[in-house]
Amino acid sequence: MVDPLNSSSPSMWRFHHRRWIHALFLPYKALVTVLWIVGFTSLFVWQRNIFIFGRRPPIPCGSFPRLRPLAFNLTDFGGVGDGFTINTEAFEKAVLAISKVGGKRGGGQLNVGAGRWLTAPFNLTSHMTLFLAQDAVILGIDDEKYWPLMPPMPSYGYGREHPGPRYGSLIHGQNLKDVVITGHNGTINGQGQAWWKKFRQKLLNHTRGPLVQIMWSRDILISNITLRDSPFWTLHPYDCKNVTIRNMTILAPIFEAPNTDGIDPDSCEDVIIEDSYLSVGDDGVAIKSGWDQYGVAYGKPSKNILIRNLVIRSMVSGGISIGSEMSGGVSNVTIENILVWDSRRGVRIKTAAGRGAYVKDIKYRNLTFENVRVGIIIKTDYNEPPDTGFNPEAFPVIRDISYESIHGEGVRVAVRLQGSADIFVRNVSFRDMSVGIRDKKKHIFQCSYVQGKVIGSIFPAPCVNLDLYDEKGVLVKKSGSENASDIDYDI
Ligand SMILES: *[C@@H]1O[C@H](CO)[C@@H](O)[C@H](O)[C@H]1NC(C)=O
Ligand SMILES: *[C@@H]1O[C@H](CO)[C@@H](O)[C@H](O)[C@H]1NC(C)=O
Ligand SMILES: *[C@@H]1O[C@H](CO)[C@@H](O)[C@H](O)[C@H]1NC(C)=O
Ligand SMILES: *[C@@H]1O[C@H](CO)[C@@H](O)[C@H](O)[C@H]1NC(C)=O
Ligand SMILES: *[C@@H]1O[C@H](CO)[C@@H](O)[C@H](O)[C@H]1NC(C)=O
Ligand SMILES: *[C@@H]1O[C@H](CO)[C@@H](O)[C@H](O)[C@H]1NC(C)=O
Ligand SMILES: *[C@@H]1O[C@H](CO)[C@@H](O)[C@H](O)[C@H]1NC(C)=O
Ligand SMILES: *[C@@H]1O[C@H](CO)[C@@H](O)[C@H](O)[C@H]1NC(C)=O
Ligand SMILES: *[C@@H]1O[C@H](CO)[C@@H](O)[C@H](O)[C@H]1NC(C)=O
Ligand SMILES: *[C@@H]1O[C@H](CO)[C@@H](O)[C@H](O)[C@H]1NC(C)=O
Ligand SMILES: *[C@@H]1O[C@H](CO)[C@@H](O)[C@H](O)[C@H]1NC(C)=O
Repeated sequence: MVDPLNSSSPSMWRFHHRRWIHALFLPYKALVTVLWIVGFTSLFVWQRNIFIFGRRPPIPCGSFPRLRPLAFNLTDFGGVGDGFTINTEAFEKAVLAISKVGGKRGGGQLNVGAGRWLTAPFNLTSHMTLFLAQDAVILGIDDEKYWPLMPPMPSYGYGREHPGPRYGSLIHGQNLKDVVITGHNGTINGQGQAWWKKFRQKLLNHTRGPLVQIMWSRDILISNITLRDSPFWTLHPYDCKNVTIRNMTILAPIFEAPNTDGIDPDSCEDVIIEDSYLSVGDDGVAIKSGWDQYGVAYGKPSKNILIRNLVIRSMVSGGISIGSEMSGGVSNVTIENILVWDSRRGVRIKTAAGRGAYVKDIKYRNLTFENVRVGIIIKTDYNEPPDTGFNPEAFPVIRDISYESIHGEGVRVAVRLQGSADIFVRNVSFRDMSVGIRDKKKHIFQCSYVQGKVIGSIFPAPCVNLDLYDEKGVLVKKSGSENASDIDYDI
């Protein structure tokens, strides 16, 4: 065998060369040791800066993708996922550690592994990713003693169910930016059963808390996880900007889980909700913006909202609602590719005198209703004021609403557009609709005080209130009976 380096060297040289290496070996080892100690110490010092509990951050585990430069494991903060140990402190310590990392270093990721992690409410921080492994379940303690009270939301004035303060949410965030909650379909479970029972028995003195509530924040992404059995509304972004909610499963019992709305974007702008499955005890999605005089005073609309590719079941309420609290206004909403099945209502706008503000520029496209009592609804007498201090003359403006490609089967009433002399519904349009009616009856396209048009032929035949246009957009028949009323709640 030829040594490529030394083939020409005299053997003597080779001998000395070996001894020279040998002589150097000990100092070299010492140098490596010194470098190793210096390196490790500086690493340790650096980590103590960001990691005040002096523990080593975990090596990323194979089942957790690295989504931030630094990742932590809940177990490193003393978390125990046995379903009994209370992990509130572990979550709080982990969040504190991530808050020390800061955005300049890319923030931190909290990995929650397989297990059942019982906890009281805790707060998130900015530049944070909460990652739930496949069989990770964050369980909310169902004893209200562990739930801190918070002031009411300013645009509601009240705790919604009771005056005064309200319970905070299980997972909460305020004044944050860049927050991600995601995973391999791990679950956040609110264990709402005890709350629903106490609510029905009127044993609670304060409004129930949502499961996840992010307030006054921006750049929020919630994806790839399951939320279930919330005590109250499930996912509540409040006065936020740039919110994406994608590929989620949101579940609650379809009966006897009061107010378990799926997603409630409230005074938010630039929101996308897509590719998700919701089966809940109240509205699937409800776009809101505050309640009567409190919402008018707060004055923050929900706008620029895109909702698409959802499958929703809501036996006691509706698939997608706007309102009834909409006193900051709602505009520029697109709702498309939605299947609503086994539900009481399909898509609905609900409001009342006293709400003020507006609902305008709303586009519905490609909706399918299967076994739904009433498909499309606009309701302007949804009376539910917070108190007697509302202004009864604050009439909301409802206008510029289009329905296109609406299909379905097993529907009782296809359309119910109920304006009033005070809240006249303007500029509604229908195009390409064929909804199969369950029991062929009259009053399957109900209207009152509504102005608008139908382009082309639709089924069922429209109410007399609407103007008729042909496919080319040429007026065929002007209505002249916009104020006719055919509203029948009995079917
Ligand atoms: C993180 O915690 C889980 C338990 O939740 C454990 O199985 C896993 O080994 C931990 N990973 C690391 C890298 O410490
Ligand atoms: C979360 O932060 C808010 C605002 O600082 C505070 O009012 C609330 O009590 C905190 N919640 C928890 C559970 O610490
Ligand atoms: C949706 O989330 C699941 C896990 O919950 C994941 O397996 C799947 O790949 C995700 N789909 C998309 C399109 O992101
Ligand atoms: C996620 O988990 C929920 C609840 O267990 C399940 O219904 C859903 O199908 C799962 N999603 C995916 C993409 O596996
Ligand atoms: C509600 O208030 C009543 C009267 O002050 C009190 O007895 C009861 O314990 C309270 N219930 C809860 C759940 O806080
Ligand atoms: C919106 O938030 C996402 C994170 O969810 C971020 O990547 C994106 O840059 C933000 N968009 C804007 C316009 O700020
Ligand atoms: C959801 O999970 C899939 C599969 O792991 C991944 O490709 C995708 O980026 C995730 N989506 C979001 C929005 O986190
Ligand atoms: C309406 O909202 C969409 C997002 O759904 C946005 O792209 C668009 O710019 C908004 N239009 C206006 C006029 O703000
Ligand atoms: C209409 O929505 C359904 C889901 O409900 C979807 O499967 C279909 O592709 C959509 N059609 C169009 C033309 O986008
Ligand atoms: C009627 O509403 C449509 C959107 O559905 C809008 O494009 C149009 O400008 C509105 N017409 C009037 C006269 O306001
Ligand atoms: C219909 O009602 C509106 C609103 O109350 C009113 O302005 C309008 O004059 C009425 N039109 C007819 C034809 O009576």
